[in-house]
Amino acid sequence: GSEWVVMATGRSPTNIAVIKYWGKRDENLILPINDSISLTLDPLHLSATTTAAVSPSFTRDRMWLNGKEISLSGERYQKCLREIRRRANEVSDAEKGIVIKKEDWERLHVHISSYNNFPTAAGLASSAAGFACLVFTLAKLMNLKDDLGQISSIARQGSGSACRSLYGGFVKWAMGNNTDGSDSLAIQLAEETHWTDLVIIIAVVSSKQKETSSTSGMRESVQTSALIKHRAETVVPARTLKMEEAITNRDFASFAKLTCADSNQFHAVCLDTSPPIFYMNDTSHRIINLVEKWNISEGTPQVAYTFDAGPNAVLVSPNRKTAALLLQRLLFHFPPNKDINLTSFVVGDKTILQDAGVTSMKDIETLE
Ligand code: PMV
Repeated sequence: GSEWVVMATGRSPTNIAVIKYWGKRDENLILPINDSISLTLDPLHLSATTTAAVSPSFTRDRMWLNGKEISLSGERYQKCLREIRRRANEVSDAEKGIVIKKEDWERLHVHISSYNNFPTAAGLASSAAGFACLVFTLAKLMNLKDDLGQISSIARQGSGSACRSLYGGFVKWAMGNNTDGSDSLAIQLAEETHWTDLVIIIAVVSSKQKETSSTSGMRESVQTSALIKHRAETVVPARTLKMEEAITNRDFASFAKLTCADSNQFHAVCLDTSPPIFYMNDTSHRIINLVEKWNISEGTPQVAYTFDAGPNAVLVSPNRKTAALLLQRLLFHFPPNKDINLTSFVVGDKTILQDAGVTSMKDIETLE
């Protein structure tokens, strides 16, 4: 009969760039003007989980995000769907007597349901995890034989940064040379087990939607900034090599210096754009100051900061002890309820709060 359903489920964490992607050389294929490097977070805290189903009873492609139906008509969704269907292969389930032939995928429709395990309103980038997961899950459903690198180049066409979330650990998005985008894909630099001491704390400064989308921001920067050219041609190629070395050697001091410098240059490019783009706010600047002063007073970097197209701070510490100290300092300088700008923290490890011994504002104040 036509009542059968075949399903696949996948999960992808979001990733945080330590060498930023900013600027496209081809807007249609989403090809960047420089390489970028990121850390894929653990799936426990910031990830998308997607289930895709196919059935002859479905009359059109449909998708739900966090339980609410969203439109798939956007060009980016359509490109991913088209590309995956084109590479689909036969799927069979002998037990249930189901055979989906390669050519069947062109007329069969899919229903997709995706959930983020973090509040969408938290102002944390969700498109990277979302598109990585969508593409990965559909590729699984349709039995693609392509390797993860090839799959990542499909995800890239949904959202550039999404291609890096196909791999765990430390990932490079190689900008590639080809005009068709076939070599613009993600490469895993090191597995998630390579450097497990790192702890990431995200300080949610604002949960508001960003004013300038990354797509239009990048376009304006490429058209008007002189600094972006210098960054893409001279700074990033050298910095990428140094960052790869720092990751290989688990050299936190170099890693932190490069990460902070790259975040600052990305925001300098935004400021060098006409009209200027401000993604960080006063609270973001205060967090940078706090970390810089701490790092200088210790004589060597204790914590790295990085900011994407918004004011939220992503802070990386070399171990849980420093992460606990960082949380103490953040809570001291941005006490809950007093500073409405800092709403919450997303911590890579829940036990850190306990380690920090932070239970009340009184405790925090006596710590300093
Ligand atoms: O993938 P997009 O279009 O959302 O662009 C992401 C750009 C940054 O987050 C600012 C930097 C990056 O490399 O992730």
